[in-house]
Amino acid sequence: MDSGTVTLRPFRVSDVDDFILWAGDDQVTRNIRWKTITSKEEALTFIKEVCIPHPWRRSICIDDRSIGFVSVYRWSGNEICKADIAYGIAAKYWGQGITTKAVKMAVLEVFKDFPDLVRLQAFAAVENKASQRVLEKAGFTKEGLLRKYTFLKGQLKDLVIYSFLSTDITVAVDDKLL
Ligand SMILES: CC(C)(COP(=O)(O)OP(=O)(O)OC[C@H]1O[C@@H](n2cnc3c(N)ncnc32)[C@H](O)[C@@H]1OP(=O)(O)O)[C@@H](O)C(=O)NCCC(=O)NCCS
Repeated sequence: MDSGTVTLRPFRVSDVDDFILWAGDDQVTRNIRWKTITSKEEALTFIKEVCIPHPWRRSICIDDRSIGFVSVYRWSGNEICKADIAYGIAAKYWGQGITTKAVKMAVLEVFKDFPDLVRLQAFAAVENKASQRVLEKAGFTKEGLLRKYTFLKGQLKDLVIYSFLSTDITVAVDDKLL
């Protein structure tokens, strides 16, 4: 299904009521490092102190209303050529191609915003097939399985690692993927 009106923009304090609908849902936060938001106050603090100052975090919006996020964390020092991407959206929008669209938009924006970025990488829990599919559809390359790689919500997880290189953009655009 084509979702049509997906946009990315910085978070705003006025997103709080929409934000809590998805950031307060365990189904959404289960596979990411965010703690599930449990009150409006907590949501406001998180938007003000974490989302807005974040170097590259966008609200995934439909008709300008926040339904999720996509974030890019740049590494530093000698590893500045590398960044990690993460995302999530409200469960009621799953399976409509929205995150794939948002990730494709983010890839184009991020390589424009950081011209010296060489590698954008993503990690998905081995059981998170939807996330892996998003990355495949957005033109990322699966590189392998990282066994017992990280603790996530108290569990040691196997992760699948994917990457998208700056040089992959031309191919993705030619293939009409981006
Ligand atoms: C992962 C997540 C972002 C996917 O978002 P989405 O908007 O539903 O993604 P899309 O609709 O663009 O694509 C999902 C794809 O996964 C597929 N999929 C979903 N569940 C699946 C499963 N259990 N097994 C195999 N494929 C699955 C869908 O069929 C679709 O592929 P298709 O277009 O080829 O049919 C969403 O489920 C989410 O927010 N989850 C919680 C947060 C999270 O896990 N973030 C990623 C952390 S690595």
